[in-house]
Amino acid sequence: MHDEELAAAEETHLRSLTAAEAEGDERAVEAALRPRTLDEVVGQSRVRAQLGLVLEAARRRGRAPDHVLLSGPPGLGKTTLAMIIAGEMGSPLRLTSGPAITHAGDLAAILSGMNEGDVLFVDEIHRMSRPAEEMLYMAMEDFRVDVVIGKGPGATAIPLDIPPFTLVGATTRAGLLPGPLRDRFGFTGHLEFYEPHELDRIVHRSAGLLGVELTGEGAAEIASRSRGTPRIANRLLRRVRDYAQVKADGVVTRPVSQAALDLYEVDELGLDRLDRAVIDVLCRRFGGGPVGVSTLAVAVGEERETVEEVAEPFLVRNGFLARTPRGRIATPAAWEHLGLAAPVVAAPSVDAPLFEG
Ligand SMILES: Nc1ncnc2c1ncn2[C@@H]1O[C@H](COP(=O)(O)OP(=O)(O)O)[C@@H](O)[C@H]1O
Ligand SMILES: [Mg+2]
Repeated sequence: MHDEELAAAEETHLRSLTAAEAEGDERAVEAALRPRTLDEVVGQSRVRAQLGLVLEAARRRGRAPDHVLLSGPPGLGKTTLAMIIAGEMGSPLRLTSGPAITHAGDLAAILSGMNEGDVLFVDEIHRMSRPAEEMLYMAMEDFRVDVVIGKGPGATAIPLDIPPFTLVGATTRAGLLPGPLRDRFGFTGHLEFYEPHELDRIVHRSAGLLGVELTGEGAAEIASRSRGTPRIANRLLRRVRDYAQVKADGVVTRPVSQAALDLYEVDELGLDRLDRAVIDVLCRRFGGGPVGVSTLAVAVGEERETVEEVAEPFLVRNGFLARTPRGRIATPAAWEHLGLAAPVVAAPSVDAPLFEG
């Protein structure tokens, strides 16, 4: 392999370490680490309590629970909760996703095969096609769909009753859901990023399931670099375990966690190489901004989308970067994180709204 190829391969590998989405064979590992009951779920106490009530009430009434919408960034437990809903109700779960339903007919096929009390999980529900969405409104509200037979002028719509079921929708972008769809959910749970002590418990739990020996300090180190996201915590744990097995005696201690994560370029606050490159360029080359995102992307040698969708949300959320109408600016925290002194004069003008565009 050429050096560039190697670097590129390594880069993809490094990138995926702090990506919040699951990829490839990671899904199998994740399945093994998923909590199976509401009691096993760490954190999210509000959603857990609310959902617990919805499910318990439905059980007492002997009915399928109301439709549930789960919203929140990737990796926080939406799919996990959908599975738990089915599990707690003792109902079969059917899985599909918005992008998989390209025609209303796809949805009709799924719905007509449902049994009473089944749970239908539609991941990325905001990406469903319009006609399918409209069919779903009716199915959610009236437990009925119109199946269209034939084409053109001779087509007829045959109404079909569906047994009462529970729809669980998941979305990373609740704002993109059309109002009528959002309104048909009886309960919406917003998942929040996790606190370090919650991630700490998740790391301990996962280590137990994977048979990894780890110390409290080793776990805390992983938790604090996980960006508030269980999926990332679990992934970092697996990489640290590799390191512990190859370079140490297999036990995940703090020095082992630190050395491993330094090797993978995930820093103490969870910033990866791209995140650091973005604020580094912003501070060192552009004096802290403001600078347009396209310029910033060119300067770090990345696609604009990557900077905007991968690095920025985390940097903004953690107060390292602000989006202003005139471009991106580095916050004092960014300067500090790089070990640089923030220029006194470069303070953003107070009259410009900060968190826009
Ligand atoms: N509250 C939680 N407690 C323990 N593990 C969790 C929790 N939430 C998520 N996880 C773990 O994180 C991984 C990703 O969760 P998932 O439900 O797939 O996230 P999402 O669907 O929101 O992207 C799963 O492997 C799961 O084990
Ligand atoms: Mg998911």
